[in-house]
Amino acid sequence: MAPAEPPGDVGLYQAHYANFASRLYGEIRRAAFGEDLGQTGWLTALEQDHFIGWLELSEASHLLDLGCGSGGPALRIALKTGCRVTGVDLHPDAVAAAHANAQAAGLAERAAFRQADAAEPLPFAEGSVDALICIDAINHLPDRPRVLADWQRVLKPGGRLLFTDPIVVTGPIANHEIAVRASLGYFLFVPLGTDERLLRAAGFVVERVEDRTRNMAENAAGWHRARAARAAELTAIEGAEGFASQQRFLEMAASLAAESRLSRLAFLARRAA
Ligand SMILES: C[S@@+](CC[C@H](N)C(=O)[O-])C[C@H]1O[C@@H](n2cnc3c(N)ncnc32)[C@H](O)[C@@H]1O
Repeated sequence: MAPAEPPGDVGLYQAHYANFASRLYGEIRRAAFGEDLGQTGWLTALEQDHFIGWLELSEASHLLDLGCGSGGPALRIALKTGCRVTGVDLHPDAVAAAHANAQAAGLAERAAFRQADAAEPLPFAEGSVDALICIDAINHLPDRPRVLADWQRVLKPGGRLLFTDPIVVTGPIANHEIAVRASLGYFLFVPLGTDERLLRAAGFVVERVEDRTRNMAENAAGWHRARAARAAELTAIEGAEGFASQQRFLEMAASLAAESRLSRLAFLARRAA
């Protein structure tokens, strides 16, 4: 299906991860999301609690988080469930933040993070994880059939997969809107129904599909507002054009979601036993 272009551009995340631990960026996350999980997408604590209930994790479980960002969301799951986590992200500053966060949370023995390109075959053995999550990051990976086949490989039989696809096409979108929404890195937009079809083709049993678009509309708008209120400080760090382009991106993400023209869907699937 999709063009197999390299996903290498992670510029969107540069400022977030380079400044992750700063007072300013922490304050923005709290203002935007309520609770600071160290998230860099559209996830909130409330939503993560909802997702944790789907994953059937215990102290014996090994969870893999792809596109894990700062590691904060995976560490919160480890704390809540007792499971062991491994996180993978392409961005070196994200992985450095994840190591620091694991140490600070006293979870270094149960949490490992590594820099790797999740668009490539994963550096994990067949059947080595009980559950795999990918929150707001699958859209950065080309060749979804190949990606899903690899996820199926690393999951144990019966293992659970949870991912959110934040840019499912569910309405008309003009070229300038797509350009802004896709302006900060590699983005793969798929039409409604594609994820379910590809999951089944890869051998997964699809157990749940839930519309989380409203969550994204609210969080994108909240993130935009929180940044706008600190424009001068952010401009000094990100530069005028860097700040403005991220604000345009967030504003577009919020309005396309609010109008349900791009939807964010959560999928729960199981590798057949
Ligand atoms: C929207 S953020 C979500 C981060 C995290 N899951 C969260 O909810 O906070 C997407 C993440 O995917 C990562 N990413 C993008 N392309 C990637 C790739 N090819 N391999 C691994 N990670 C990638 C980015 O660096 C970023 O941390």
